[in-house]
Amino acid sequence: MAYGTLYGVGVGPGASDLLTLRAVRVLRRAGVVVIPRRSETASSLAWRIAGPEVGEVPGQERLFLTFPMTKDPAVLAPAWDEVFLQVGRRLEAGLDVAFITEGDPLFFSTFVYLMEAAPSRWPEARVEVVPGVSSLTAAAAVAGIPLVDGQERMAVVPATYGVEDLAHVLEEFDTILLTKVSSHMAQVVEALERQGLLDRAVYVSRATMEGELVERDLRRVVQGRCDYFSMVVVSKKENNGLLLGQAAQRAVNDRPGGHSSRDQPAAGKLGGGMAGD
Ligand SMILES: C[S@@+](CC[C@H](N)C(=O)[O-])C[C@H]1O[C@@H](n2cnc3c(N)ncnc32)[C@H](O)[C@@H]1O
Repeated sequence: MAYGTLYGVGVGPGASDLLTLRAVRVLRRAGVVVIPRRSETASSLAWRIAGPEVGEVPGQERLFLTFPMTKDPAVLAPAWDEVFLQVGRRLEAGLDVAFITEGDPLFFSTFVYLMEAAPSRWPEARVEVVPGVSSLTAAAAVAGIPLVDGQERMAVVPATYGVEDLAHVLEEFDTILLTKVSSHMAQVVEALERQGLLDRAVYVSRATMEGELVERDLRRVVQGRCDYFSMVVVSKKENNGLLLGQAAQRAVNDRPGGHSSRDQPAAGKLGGGMAGD
């Protein structure tokens, strides 16, 4: 029997109307929907987002699999063995298996490990990714912050791993997105203060979900409770677009009759993309 297809399906950042038409179509057609959760008793955010839109599908299996939130290999290895066993059995039986993930499946998602293991475990199974609206663009949207434009460069840093060299990242990039900030807010605020960037940073939690919060005074977040579904967007706005911003101002100053600038940018490097980008 031919193997089924393994789908990684992004269900978006929280609002059910940010679920894509393709995600709904694939989730209604699959023989099995895999619903990841953190423990046997935890509910799944991804399923809370997608479930009501997918509705009842006769004959479809909804398979809850547990992915413990730990870095301990003694706990992770048996949990993953079980996942491989359960998913493998169904693919071998010719069933399409759709693994749902909050946001996008290729951006900090459990699905990445499954996708990477698939070719060696189930070489005959096709793997397909259904992209979802990521929390990156959702957070930018609710905070009203353009992420990058013109010559700007962006970095995404999970605070769980990257607070030690945050000063370097803040120096090097124009826009910095700090994910998984919840238990690191005090260090993040300290680093931003040291670089004089605290007023360029916005905290966004539960973007597009119930309980969404946009907080421009990060000190208040440190004092209060910090949500797992939260990130900090730092936007320096020193190198943005052709029409507005400091890069444009430098170009105006460098024209004959304008104020000259010492660090003259190359003309070809100025500004945003082509019209229609
Ligand atoms: C495991 S990652 C999942 C990312 C997801 N795959 C995506 O594409 O957005 C979890 C982290 O993403 C961020 N995140 C996810 N959803 C969010 C939301 N709705 N609002 C703000 N941050 C969110 C938080 O930083 C959280 O700690």
